[in-house]
Amino acid sequence: MPNRICVAIDGPAGAGKSTVAKLVARKLGLLYIDTGAMYRAVTLKALKQGLNLHEAGGLTNLARETTIKLVPGLQQSVLLDGEDVTEEIRSPEVTRHVSTVASVPGVREVLVERQRQMAYENGVVMDGRDIGTVVLPRANAKFFLTASAEERARRRAKELEDKGYTVDIDKLIKEIQDRDYTDSHRSVSPLVPAGDAIIIDSSGMNIEEVVDTIISWIEKNK
Ligand code: CDP
Ligand code: CDP
Repeated sequence: MPNRICVAIDGPAGAGKSTVAKLVARKLGLLYIDTGAMYRAVTLKALKQGLNLHEAGGLTNLARETTIKLVPGLQQSVLLDGEDVTEEIRSPEVTRHVSTVASVPGVREVLVERQRQMAYENGVVMDGRDIGTVVLPRANAKFFLTASAEERARRRAKELEDKGYTVDIDKLIKEIQDRDYTDSHRSVSPLVPAGDAIIIDSSGMNIEEVVDTIISWIEKNK
């Protein structure tokens, strides 16, 4: 009998969602699903095809025709129409444009449907922006992870520097704030905590502390 527990983890960029969600999934024996990777994959394909990112119809058709596979594993890989784009979808260019593509209602409809299907077939820990509010409103546990924009930018800067990028921290803070704004103010599925989400401000917490907080809550409330 598959374990059908569904855990939703939402929050802004750099809050620690994917790092924490992966560890929680491993501890609970659930599948981890990174929904941001799906929006990033559609954005990458749109950029490669030179599509107008303000033309909703073209982007919606593109999402519909695109296959995205999230391959489970320690370093979850992402296949876009069969091609491994795990690294490419994290590029600064995709990061700059992803919120525009994710604001298109048709794109969201296509991807949300696929996310629900994955959760229906497996127990999952799913991270994103609208998991507790829209994708899985009946999830067993919902968490909203946050941290100050400065702290989130510092975490992102470290990651980018480790990959060899040169980072302007003020620019990164501004980009994070802009993305927060776009994600929180779009008309469809804006980034807001679900009414029944547990809010965790991880500004002064390390990864292990956040994971422990989530696991203890689930253990106590299951
Ligand atoms: O990793 P990071 O927090 O930078 O972002 P991500 O989770 O990879 O998501 C990239 C972008 O996709 C977000 O800024 C949102 O614009 C969009 N997204 C969304 O709209 N809904 C989701 N469920 C997940 C991501
Ligand atoms: O998925 P999201 O954009 O919310 O964040 P992430 O990619 O999981 O985390 C961004 C970076 O912050 C990673 O390098 C994590 O190792 C780091 N992090 C941290 O230093 N302390 C935490 N409490 C959570 C994440």
